Amino acid sequence: MKENKKIYIETYGCQMNFSDSEIVASILTESGYKFTDEIISADIIFVNTCSIREHAEERVRKRLQYFKSLRKKNPDLVIGLLGCMADRTKVALMEEEHLLDLVAGPDAYRHLPELLDKVGSGQPAIDTILSFDETYADITPVRLDSNGVSAFISIMRGCENYCSYCVVPSTRGRERSRDAETIVNETRDLYQKGYREVTLLGQNVNSYKWQTAGETIDFAHLLEKIALSNPLMRIRFATSHPKDISDELLNTIARYPNLCKSIHLPVQSGSNHMLELMNRKYSREEYLERIHVIRQILPGCAISTDIIAGFCDETEEDHRQTLSLMNLVGYDAAFMFKYSERPQTLAADTLPDNVPDETKDLRLREIIDLQQKLSLSSNQKEIGKTVEILIEGVSKRSVNQYFGRTSQNKVAVFTKTTSLPGEYVHVKITGTTSATLLGEIIDFRE
Ligand code: SAH
Ligand code: SF4
Ligand code: F3S
Repeated sequence: MKENKKIYIETYGCQMNFSDSEIVASILTESGYKFTDEIISADIIFVNTCSIREHAEERVRKRLQYFKSLRKKNPDLVIGLLGCMADRTKVALMEEEHLLDLVAGPDAYRHLPELLDKVGSGQPAIDTILSFDETYADITPVRLDSNGVSAFISIMRGCENYCSYCVVPSTRGRERSRDAETIVNETRDLYQKGYREVTLLGQNVNSYKWQTAGETIDFAHLLEKIALSNPLMRIRFATSHPKDISDELLNTIARYPNLCKSIHLPVQSGSNHMLELMNRKYSREEYLERIHVIRQILPGCAISTDIIAGFCDETEEDHRQTLSLMNLVGYDAAFMFKYSERPQTLAADTLPDNVPDETKDLRLREIIDLQQKLSLSSNQKEIGKTVEILIEGVSKRSVNQYFGRTSQNKVAVFTKTTSLPGEYVHVKITGTTSATLLGEIIDFRE
């Protein structure tokens, strides 16, 4: 039976969720299911969901209505919801609105084969229990939508930082690290399959810790192990929390050329009052001190960030502080959001969501406009330089062009040569837009 069942999976949210979908694909392929890219031919539709902002949940609700409409043609269609919305919305979406046949939270994916067996049996196919130790360490992900060059590796799960605005600690549970050896082995395996770039994922990778009989492996140590075991594999990581990005980690990044010179260090706000209400556990001054140290230890390292506009009680002056901090740091890139109150967070329980929506929009607009200027000026600094690029594939703009990234995570496009995706080339940067560098390959392969 199962051998003929086809699953279509749609993923929303962060890289962690995309990585989880690959774990789901692995678990279900092992138990005999097939995966398809065509929703119309699927027997089972999974949607791996995100709760981070209200908008993210609304999008999923709309998609579920569409999936439900597909049941007219295929009455046996099974619809399952995975990920961060699972626990929060299971009652409304499954029991009240009858949009779902199955619900599985982020730590329940090993049970998916049994949950699928339960569908239609009269027993509820629901598991949203969060775990203290599940890391899926032994599962080799099935790479979905892969370019064959870059891949994600989850190194830890959960989060215990409890930023007051954030739903993640409640949707993903306790923080836990994955066995270091399985991470190193997964990187080696990817290298052998032709991959040349991995991004190590966790909500707060700096607090990675794995204890073996002989040693304690922290994040800097883990990076070093991976860097040494695959010198031609580029290594990226996300996300770092400003409160614990150590000098030791920065020195390790400086030592190995394959540890990419790009750090994502979400600031959220430039105002001390906001940072305190957000429970971020650092001040504007402490954040800027870390930036100073990054610039000293890693000259030329790119720094990117996340910013929230219009958090509770935010005044015009608080907002100005964010703009001034952005200018001081000169971010190379940023993800910028308007504050969205989430249920089961400290902010929802104790702080008023009192910045009017129009004000949030205006502030977000200002932040985005400023970042566009900063990104452009960051890219303009690259013009004239010769940089090493890992070719990722053919550019969307033209079949005659390749695209790839610099160590600083900047995207560059350049005319195709005999080099292939997965190879490193030297490219001279000749121009730029605010998003993309333009260049010419200078080392041709015979
Ligand atoms: N663990 C990472 C990323 C978490 S989610 C970190 O700590 O940085 C990614 C980003 O979404 C956050 O950095 C934050 O900028 C944004 N975000 C989280 N909750 C939000 C909310 N309720 N409203 C708006 N943006 C939010
Ligand atoms: Fe959310 Fe803060 Fe944890 Fe990031 S560190 S996932 S923003 S609680
Ligand atoms: Fe969203 Fe969950 Fe990631 S809430 S951002 S999918 S951890």
